[in-house]
Amino acid sequence: MDHKKLDTLFAEAKLARERSYCPYSNFAVGAALLTADGRIYHGCNIENAAFSPTVCAERTAIFKAVSEGARDFIAIAVAGANQGEDPVEDCYPCGVCRQVLAEFCTTDLLVITAKGRTTLGALLPNSFNL
Ligand code: THU
Repeated sequence: MDHKKLDTLFAEAKLARERSYCPYSNFAVGAALLTADGRIYHGCNIENAAFSPTVCAERTAIFKAVSEGARDFIAIAVAGANQGEDPVEDCYPCGVCRQVLAEFCTTDLLVITAKGRTTLGALLPNSFNL
């Protein structure tokens, strides 16, 4: 595991957050997804006037990663707050994003937030899978 990159992963999520497109909620989110071989995939939330096509930062990051051939993930950092404010409070992946993460990640996936870290297994126990 790449500990140095793990330590800076939240800062990477904050960088990704700068690209958030959130004119409807004004809630800006960034995510940084770390692969076992040290690559980082960034994502931000991208909203839409029709609302339902909106995609969360976490899903942007994991869809980018999977579409580029990455499958082995060890951590995701999430930075979210009202636009213009520092993301100092914890922002956790929504239920849909937890399910998408569970498709590709083990329960050991680290979920790093502003104040600490947890695991996907703790956030989505007994997850559904085929
Ligand atoms: N959002 C994320 O990007 N990630 C989360 O974990 C929670 C919610 C986005 C979706 C929407 O653009 C905005 O935050 C408000 O819900």
